[in-house]
Amino acid sequence: MKLAVITGGARGIGRSIADVLDAEGYKLLLVDVSDAVDGAAAELGALAVRADISTREGVNAIVTAAEESGAEPALLVNNAGITRDSLLRKMDEAAFRAVVRINLGGTIALTEALAPKMCEGSAVVNISSRAQLGNVGQFNYGIAKAGLIGATRALALSLAPRTRVNAVAPGFTESEMTLAMPEQVRERIINSIPVGRAGKPVDIANAVAWLGSDRAGYINGQVLYACGGRTF
Ligand SMILES: NC(=O)c1ccc[n+]([C@@H]2O[C@H](COP(=O)([O-])OP(=O)(O)OC[C@H]3O[C@@H](n4cnc5c(N)ncnc54)[C@H](O)[C@@H]3O)[C@@H](O)[C@H]2O)c1
Repeated sequence: MKLAVITGGARGIGRSIADVLDAEGYKLLLVDVSDAVDGAAAELGALAVRADISTREGVNAIVTAAEESGAEPALLVNNAGITRDSLLRKMDEAAFRAVVRINLGGTIALTEALAPKMCEGSAVVNISSRAQLGNVGQFNYGIAKAGLIGATRALALSLAPRTRVNAVAPGFTESEMTLAMPEQVRERIINSIPVGRAGKPVDIANAVAWLGSDRAGYINGQVLYACGGRTF
């Protein structure tokens, strides 16, 4: 049976990715720093590991859990991420470092550690963001998500031909991350989305499932914007 490892799988987009990949027949290993991962995994009959992708211990725990799953990892979805938004002149160094360390550093460290265990014909899907094009108040996040696109392209070359590596760049998507934004900001963004609505987690999950599947077997090193057309 094929194993899919999903980071940030306890809630939001990661949880929806788990639902879609479960329906596609993958065995699942959900990874999250939050305790809620145990409940999410129990609902799906999935394996769970509580781990922080930005620490060496966390990465080791994830690789061990994948090895002990009894299935070869066929898909790694690097979805775990955080925001620490503020205007550039107010941004402190801790907020800058935390966002880059988790979104970018943790993702790269886990991919490098898990890639040698992944099977022939496997895939990695990194969750970047439309914000890599630039958003006021997201200097740190934009840098991390843009870096993830550079990492996607570099890893796509170095892990080929065994493993394909692609990225999905979601636009504004309903989740606890975006619910934390001020109401007027949410409304302004939603009104500017060409398809006329916010993204739903399943919109992103469907893009991930396709890129991870053999149907996308000739797609490598690419970025798929799932943003309703708001590429500005
Ligand atoms: N919601 C959006 O509009 C949007 C848009 C573009 C990109 N994204 C990206 O999609 C991904 C999921 O976002 P979401 O909206 O579901 O967010 P969310 O905050 O609802 O969920 C993120 C999950 O990641 C986990 N996590 C955070 N840091 C972790 C760490 N160090 N190790 C392991 N797990 C960790 C959290 O505990 C949480 O369960 C993120 O990478 C985010 O940057 C979201």
